[in-house]
Amino acid sequence: MIEPRPEVKGLPIYRPGRPGHVSAEAVQNLAANENAWGPSPLAVEAWRRWDGGATYPDMAGQILQEALEAQWEVPSSAMLLGTGSGHLIKCLAETYLRPGDQAATLHPTFSLYAQGASLMGAQVAALPGAGHQVNWAALPDWVADHHPRLVFLCTPNNPTGDVAPAAVIQAVLAALGDDGLLVLDEAYRDFSLPEPDTTRLLAVHANVVLLRTLSKAYGLAGLRVGAMLAAPAVVDAVGRVREPFPVSAPALLMGRAAVLDEPYRRQVVAAVQVGRRRLEWALAARGWSVNPSQANFVWAAPPSGDAEAWLGELSARGILVRWGGSFGVPDHLRITVGTPVQEGLLLAALDDIAERRQAPFPGDREGGLAGGR
Ligand SMILES: Cc1ncc(COP(=O)(O)O)c(C=O)c1O
Repeated sequence: MIEPRPEVKGLPIYRPGRPGHVSAEAVQNLAANENAWGPSPLAVEAWRRWDGGATYPDMAGQILQEALEAQWEVPSSAMLLGTGSGHLIKCLAETYLRPGDQAATLHPTFSLYAQGASLMGAQVAALPGAGHQVNWAALPDWVADHHPRLVFLCTPNNPTGDVAPAAVIQAVLAALGDDGLLVLDEAYRDFSLPEPDTTRLLAVHANVVLLRTLSKAYGLAGLRVGAMLAAPAVVDAVGRVREPFPVSAPALLMGRAAVLDEPYRRQVVAAVQVGRRRLEWALAARGWSVNPSQANFVWAAPPSGDAEAWLGELSARGILVRWGGSFGVPDHLRITVGTPVQEGLLLAALDDIAERRQAPFPGDREGGLAGGR
C-alpha cells in the first residue's frame, strides 16, 4: 500500500465544533464560533435569485471583491479571495515555507497555522503561553531568536479572545526584518471594540498579510469565503498557488449582498458585543475565571477546575462548547456568544449542573450511608 508523505502521517485531524454525527437541530452549538443571528436577509434573497450553475464562476470573484474593496478601503490589487480563510492559511504555507524553515505562532491558538506549516515540512515554534493566556510581551524576542519566514498571529486570538497589542505588532515587524512575512488572522476583528486599525499597515509594510472571513460577522460560515489582503507581490505569488475558482457563484452573490448590507452587520456585531459582556458577567458571577474577550466567544475556567467534566455535563444537556484541552489548556472552555435564548439555556444548564454537584447523595439525605456507593 502506498504511504503518504511523512509530514502527512503526523498531522493532527481537524475536529469541528459540532461532530458530524450530532445533528444541528439537536443541540445548541456554542463550540464553533459561528454567528447565531445568521446572514443578512438580503444575502438569502440573493441566493434565491441565483439562476444556475452550468458555468464556472468568475475566477477573481470581481462582484464580491468590489464590495470588499469599498468596505475595507483596499484596492483589488491587494486582495485575493479563498474558500474560507482557512484555505488561505494553507496557501500561504504552500507558497512560502520550505522543509526545515521556521514558522512562528502563539500558544494557545488556532490549529491550522501549525498544520499548514507542518505539512510543508517546516518547524513550528509556538511561543510558550503564560498559563492559559498568550504571552504577548515575549513575542518580539521570540521572533528575533527564531528567524521565522512566516509568523501567524491570530488577533483577536482564538481561543483567548484578546487582541494583539499594536506595539507588539510593530516590535514583531522590527524583529522580523524584510525576509519574513507577518500574517495577522483577523477572523474575529469585527467584534473588537474598537476595531483594530490594521488595514493601514498594508500601506507601510510590504510583508504584512491580513486574513479576513465572511464566516463570522457576516454569518456565512457555510459558504466558505475568506479574503487575503497583502502587497501585490504576495497576492501574485499566493494567487499562483491557490487553485482556480475558489469561491462558488452563489457564494459570490450572497457574499456581495451580505457585505453591502452594512446596517445588518453592525446590528449583529452590536448584539454579539452586548451578549459577550452579559456572558462574561454571568460566568464571573458564578465563580468562573473569565478572560476579557474581543471576539464572539469567551475563554473561561470553571471554579472547580474540571473543565472536561463540565463539557460532558453540558453536552448531555444538548449544549456544545469547546474544550480547552484541544488547545493544550485542559482547565478552560471556549464558549461562543449565542442569542439571548441560547444564553438562557446555557446559564440554566450551568446552574443545574452546579446544583446537582452540591446536592447531598441520597443516602446522606436519609441521615447516613445506607450502603456502599
Ligand atoms: C482564527 C480563525 N481563523 C480562521 C478560521 C477559519 O475561518 P474560515 O471559515 O474563513 O475558513 C477560523 C475558524 O473558526 C478561526 O477561528
